[in-house]
Amino acid sequence: MSLKGLGDVVLDHVAIAVKDLDNAVQVWENLGLEFEEEREVVEEQGVVTAFAAIDTNAHLELLCPHGEGGPIHKYIEKKGEGIHHLCFKVKDVAAKTIELRDKGFTLINEAPVKGAGGCLVNFIHPKSTGGVLVEISQKVDS
Ligand code: CO
Repeated sequence: MSLKGLGDVVLDHVAIAVKDLDNAVQVWENLGLEFEEEREVVEEQGVVTAFAAIDTNAHLELLCPHGEGGPIHKYIEKKGEGIHHLCFKVKDVAAKTIELRDKGFTLINEAPVKGAGGCLVNFIHPKSTGGVLVEISQKVDS
């Protein structure tokens, strides 16, 4: 197996942490993006999400706290609203987790966890990427 890291993946989304989802959707619709109707609550992450396509692969993901104490709630308390993470789509997130860990990166979860949109995801810790939280995501059909 060759170690390609992020060399064989595509950008899936850029995620932005927001305090008010409807307001943020309005802002980005004014900028010309069209949001999917569905708002997905990911209870495990304490977040509600809205997606808009940017091109054939990439989306904008708005992340709004759902309840208190979740990671997005804490992030906004600490750093305010703004770009939260980049996400790359990978074929096999479990294999990519091991591959990136072997390359010396710090992965937030030992094994992939459930994310929005029926995906399995993991995150590269910003301390090993120069301050950028990077999500890796695999579409799982169920
Ligand atoms: Co994401």
